[in-house]
Amino acid sequence: MIQFKIAILVGSLRKESWNRKMANALIALAPNSLSLEIISIGDLPLYNEDLETAPPSEWIAFRKHLASFDAVLFVTPEYNRSLPAVLKNAIDVGSRPYGKSCWDGKPGAIISVSPGNIGAFGANHHLRQSLVFLNVPAMAQPEAYIGSVATLFDDQGILSNESTKAFLTKFINSFQMWISSNIKREVN
Ligand SMILES: Cc1cc2nc3c(=O)[nH]c(=O)nc-3n(C[C@H](O)[C@H](O)[C@H](O)COP(=O)(O)O)c2cc1C
Repeated sequence: MIQFKIAILVGSLRKESWNRKMANALIALAPNSLSLEIISIGDLPLYNEDLETAPPSEWIAFRKHLASFDAVLFVTPEYNRSLPAVLKNAIDVGSRPYGKSCWDGKPGAIISVSPGNIGAFGANHHLRQSLVFLNVPAMAQPEAYIGSVATLFDDQGILSNESTKAFLTKFINSFQMWISSNIKREVN
């Protein structure tokens, strides 16, 4: 039986994205009690408050879809020491209209991934700043800054590094516990 539904937002639109590969590796390692789905963010028109009078259909569909999940997981690269615009745009779209944010109260977690050796730390922490405001309780530990990502996959694009697999398993198990303790429950 599915305990929690987790939406995964990948901060890269690149076909051969390492972040997408990492998200798929995590999905493969997750327990059966979790349902994880990468949700599409690449087709969302850029956020413009003027459009709220008649929101684009892509915004409406995204908000509705996001609202159906229990928790959110961000898997993101770093662009210029921050998060990619496509991911920030999705965050902004999901946060409005004012007072109807889809993020509110959903437990969250972040994995940042880079071919470089700092593991996209800057993106990870800039994202945390928005999550505080959005009332997304973001898991603190284990932190996930995955660097040198190009060395972790085999020629077929399968995660082959055993310690990364063990780390991802620990990460997703911790996230399951984090969701259990932080999920918003209706109080009668
Ligand atoms: C506009 C741009 C800015 C970038 N800035 C950073 C950066 O600040 N830190 C970093 O580690 N990598 C940076 N990179 C390199 C990305 O980490 C690399 O392209 C990575 O493969 C992107 O993730 P993806 O494979 O999931 O698409 C940048 C790449 C682009 C295109």
